[in-house]
Amino acid sequence: MDSLTITRPDDWHLHLRDGAALTAVLHFTARQFARAIAMPNLRPPVTTAAQAVAYRERILAALPREGTGSGFQPLMTLYLTDNTTAEEIERAKAAGVVAVKLYPAGATTNSDAGVTDIRKTYAALEALQRQGMLLLVHGEVTEGEIDVFDREAVFIERVMQPLRADFPELKVVFEHITTKEAAEYVAGSCRHTAATVTPQHLLYNRNSIFMGGLRPHYYCLPVLKREVHRQALIRAATSGSPKFFLGTDSAPHAAQLKENSVCGAGCFTAPAALELYAEAFEAAGALDKLEAFASFYGPDFYGLSRNTGTVTLKREPWPLPETYPFGDATIKPLRAGETLNWRLQ
Ligand code: DOR
Ligand code: ZN
Repeated sequence: MDSLTITRPDDWHLHLRDGAALTAVLHFTARQFARAIAMPNLRPPVTTAAQAVAYRERILAALPREGTGSGFQPLMTLYLTDNTTAEEIERAKAAGVVAVKLYPAGATTNSDAGVTDIRKTYAALEALQRQGMLLLVHGEVTEGEIDVFDREAVFIERVMQPLRADFPELKVVFEHITTKEAAEYVAGSCRHTAATVTPQHLLYNRNSIFMGGLRPHYYCLPVLKREVHRQALIRAATSGSPKFFLGTDSAPHAAQLKENSVCGAGCFTAPAALELYAEAFEAAGALDKLEAFASFYGPDFYGLSRNTGTVTLKREPWPLPETYPFGDATIKPLRAGETLNWRLQ
């Protein structure tokens, strides 16, 4: 197969940032995807319905006026804190916000204002469940005694299982799963539980972070895991189960800040997101499963309509640029300077 035409996909987990960074990265996503879940971990975070509405306006204003990508639709989220009220959730629902993001405090980039104890958010979660909005979860515990490679598996026991028991009707997306434990947990849980899977966690294991030296562009959170976990994610994503769908977690950081004594977490995959997924699915002999993963299961779980247009990938080697402009700085995509075998037309 040298050409693959699929229904236009959506990205169910994306960091778009704000200001000049937003303008620099948005077009990469808008040209491939019809919609994307815009993560709320800005500085300061998007914690109110009014802030989400204003952020949506800034995203729409940064889109190309006409042509490819002009019809892109951002789907907005709120950043859950210990103090999020049920009333704020109701205002968010009325404003068209579709989901709320749980960041355990200290788990990742801009998570300082995140949740310190899930029980503090129960009034907000009850409101979410009542309103039929989704809870999107960064599933890692943050306790210092838990090894960074075990944080997702421990999260399942300590947070996910009690949460599911207490809110059985709440739709929960376990974001960017990275382990066999998470894949098995989601596959075996109720129909209101699903997961997103990133391209980097399908393509790489943790060796990539250390290949011939420390590779900051392969560092994201949750961090890449052992090969046995990557294989479990491949099986889940290509299984045809509607519980697993596309969410890139493309997370832009300036190259100067990635290649630094302290490197921010995040892989910038937006410029070739679909191509990277196609590579992973092809290597698993499952290109025929890509369309449902990329374009059907996400909207089905969110209760939204599937897209109507199509996109076409061709087998055509092309070099991914080394850098792209990023406001006053530059940014390096994952696989910068390397040849990709699939190309979006
Ligand atoms: O690698 C990551 N980058 N993981 C996250 O959870 C946040 C993200 C970011 O915002 O840079
Ligand atoms: Zn993310």
